[in-house]
Amino acid sequence: MPYHDLRDYMDELIRRDLLRVIEEPVCKDTELVPLVRLQFRGLAEAERRAFWFKNVTDARGHAFDASVIIGAIGCSREVYGVAMGVGPDDIGAKWASVHGNHLAPEEVARADAPVKEVVTVAPDLGAGVDRFPHLISTPGFDPAPYITAGVWVTRDPETGACNLGIYRGMIKAPDRIGCATDTSTQHLAVMWEKARRLGRPLEAAVFIGGPPALLMAAASKVPYGVDEYGVAGALNGAPIAVVAAATCDLMVPAAAEIVIEGTIRTDVLEPEAPFGEASGYLGPRKMEKVFDVGAISHREQPIYQGIISEFPPSESTVMRKAAFDAIYLNHLKAACNIPTVSRVACHELASCNMLFVIQLDRPELGQPWQALRAAAAFDASLGKIFIAVDADVDPDSMDSILWALSYAMQPHRDTEIIRGKVPRLDPSISPSDDPRQLAYPDAQGSSAILINACREHAYPPVSLPAKEFMEAARARWQTLGLPALDLKTPWHGYALSAWTEENAEEAVLAVTGRYFETGEKLAGRRAPIGNGDGSPPPPGFVSK
Ligand SMILES: Cc1cc2nc3c(=O)[nH]c(=O)nc-3n(C[C@H](O)[C@H](O)[C@H](O)COP(=O)(O)O)c2cc1C
Repeated sequence: MPYHDLRDYMDELIRRDLLRVIEEPVCKDTELVPLVRLQFRGLAEAERRAFWFKNVTDARGHAFDASVIIGAIGCSREVYGVAMGVGPDDIGAKWASVHGNHLAPEEVARADAPVKEVVTVAPDLGAGVDRFPHLISTPGFDPAPYITAGVWVTRDPETGACNLGIYRGMIKAPDRIGCATDTSTQHLAVMWEKARRLGRPLEAAVFIGGPPALLMAAASKVPYGVDEYGVAGALNGAPIAVVAAATCDLMVPAAAEIVIEGTIRTDVLEPEAPFGEASGYLGPRKMEKVFDVGAISHREQPIYQGIISEFPPSESTVMRKAAFDAIYLNHLKAACNIPTVSRVACHELASCNMLFVIQLDRPELGQPWQALRAAAAFDASLGKIFIAVDADVDPDSMDSILWALSYAMQPHRDTEIIRGKVPRLDPSISPSDDPRQLAYPDAQGSSAILINACREHAYPPVSLPAKEFMEAARARWQTLGLPALDLKTPWHGYALSAWTEENAEEAVLAVTGRYFETGEKLAGRRAPIGNGDGSPPPPGFVSK
């Protein structure tokens, strides 16, 4: 750190034994992604690695003058941390430090830009984009190879503000790529709509490979108009070197592996997809944007980067979790002024888009609801289930969340359903040919449920032995030579507010062998059952 390009980052992964290098020929259409997929279905996260395939072929038997790397940003939190230059436990703090401390990119001369080693301009594109080993991500279902780690660079046609975003690109012809934005609120889609209203195409460049911070920044949600080059510079610890694109008014990373430039048409749309999505299902074919390729720049023997996404967990869910946990925490704590919010956790099996758990430390009256509503309002399409929990509930642990849902909330009192959310790759919405149905109207469209599972009145203690007894037990456990423990929170009991001095005294009597004293006291408080005349039993009486 800082990384200059993908290659010095790969050196670091090799040094840490986090990159598997495969020398044997592997087919990028049928074999490559399934091989890497296996580790997400069959290995513990700590054993997952990035893969570098040095000898890549395709279904037609062609070999490529390029190799393929996949899993390099987020096959695990450990790898994501290396890309950021921190340990896995410091990812959130690093993201928090980046907000508001952006580092603007620095322009370099064309001669100093490795990505300009080979430049071809239309109409002399040769094999065009087909010279690169674009991957088939879900063989057996996907209708084409897609660019999965492509970062799209565009400018707001009115303000000139730069945007970077990862959007998939369906390979349709040597000079034509489909560009898919999941919702009309994605920033490229906003810029495209502005260009359309102005009656002109949208200039765009999609780059592959570069310092890893670029991909991390491009996948994260920052406000419209904020330049992700600045976010990437801050994550990388040094400004990103950029160079002028060959044929349009855009700056592209000087040390990218590949840059494809051109225009996104605003006069036509074209069918695009299906594609295996992070929802765990194939996304449907829909009308999407068409990118006409005008120029291609690349390094000699480029290293083609892919990101493994589709069924969670995956590289894309690791990437989203790392960024979203910190971004939502910053949003709630800083922008929405809720200092009692202590953590936010999204969940990989919910694609990191659907379930957000917000932990609050002794919230003031109203703050759980403020946090739930503010989290739901952060993005029109993100979040279907929002849950607020207390500080002793681990928001990353589904066990802990189930405990809170089961005994810290009442559905009729503590939930609220809000409407008007924009569905995001969610096949549970009612099928319809009406595109407006995707966003609204009532009873169709999509919605979110807000659940306040913070305890808002006095609660009895947590039913585990008190801390002193569990600590003593843990010491004893060790002296007895029993197997190593991996303790879950909570691992000892503690009093909440519904616990009287008398309760506490009785508990002390119990563990000092004096429990008959309590029995005697309770006998002195006997109450008659009544005369069978229908009068209610005394308080606390439980009939068997
Ligand atoms: C591997 C990967 C693939 C993605 N593919 C798409 C996509 O095809 N379309 C889309 O709208 N968002 C996609 N995203 C999510 C966007 O990158 C993300 O929403 C980002 O914030 C978009 O940039 P923007 O906020 O500047 O619009 C993908 C994210 C990752 C990590």
